[in-house]
Amino acid sequence: MRTSSLTIGRHLVEQERKVPEATGDFTALLWDLTIAFKIINHEVNKAGLVDILGWTGDRNVHGEKVRKLDQFAHETIFKAMDHGGHLCAMASEEEPRVMLIPGKFKKGRYVLLFDPLDGSSNIDVNVSVGTIFSILRKRTPGPDGTLEDCLQPGCEQVAAGYCVYGSSTIMVYTSGHGVHGFTLDPNIGEFLLSHPDIRIPRRGGTYSINEGYSGTWDEPTRRYIENLKSPQARGGKGYSMRYVGSLVADFHRNLLVGGVFLYPATYKDPNKPKPKLRLLYEANPLAFVIEQAGGKASTGRRRILDIEPQSLHQRVPLVIGSPEEVDLYLNYASGKES
Ligand code: AHG
Ligand code: MN
Ligand code: MN
Repeated sequence: MRTSSLTIGRHLVEQERKVPEATGDFTALLWDLTIAFKIINHEVNKAGLVDILGWTGDRNVHGEKVRKLDQFAHETIFKAMDHGGHLCAMASEEEPRVMLIPGKFKKGRYVLLFDPLDGSSNIDVNVSVGTIFSILRKRTPGPDGTLEDCLQPGCEQVAAGYCVYGSSTIMVYTSGHGVHGFTLDPNIGEFLLSHPDIRIPRRGGTYSINEGYSGTWDEPTRRYIENLKSPQARGGKGYSMRYVGSLVADFHRNLLVGGVFLYPATYKDPNKPKPKLRLLYEANPLAFVIEQAGGKASTGRRRILDIEPQSLHQRVPLVIGSPEEVDLYLNYASGKES
């Protein structure tokens, strides 16, 4: 039974009508992105049947082994977005430098930053993966985008979101007017509005963290998680732990049912904190989504969206989710609670 017939195309046009100065450029950009998501979804669904599992043999700028599907998703998005005339540059987790729009194509006013395939270590074992994206407005003069255009704080994002390729394929986005989710109907090949105006519960019953690293956490994180695990937590109801290992999938679950996701810096060497998640491709877009849904995102010291990026592949600690759980973490991090 079909519950919605509002396609993402119609939704985007309706949103555009609310902005009198809109040119249609931004709407077309998001529409092009949905085409890339459908292509990646198709390939992810075939994984195992065609020779697309496993590694390419290369390592990316982060020193991580690149999977064939990482590469496929990266190329699919670049090719879907390079000729629409909406973008002046792109940057991807899988590419060390800013990617310019090829000379033969028209340049536009926007910049696209993306994590082509998040959670890709899960792909060979049929666990959900996703794509995360962030859109900024160009701020330097001239037709080509620059590094400076990419290195804007998250509060400057025009839109952000993700697509999870899971038990169903769902795209969630915000352009600063709430958070909306669209489920791909495979029979008609359309994203249909399934989750209008998503609000995260103020308090959740789930925490998500890689507890295998607990020996490398700082003291506030250790105490915070101990607190969540105590039988008295949440008025005696306690918390469940859920950790898929794909940020998008963990994030999406917590967005819908409430909870907190943490990837703190790890301290194998006490003098060398090591955060993992990337500010521009992971933390910023999800922080924009969570704040629009009524949640919070922090490094533990500061709001994610306020950080002035210093480099394309900068990593940050991330605590993101329901406002009450994030606030409690901030109390531990600032020493108000111990
Ligand atoms: P990516 O696949 O884009 O490199 O991101 C992987 C990230 C994220 O999806 C996930 O939350 C985290 O890595 C898992 O890391 P651990 O295995 O260290 O927990
Ligand atoms: Mn990722
Ligand atoms: Mn990735």
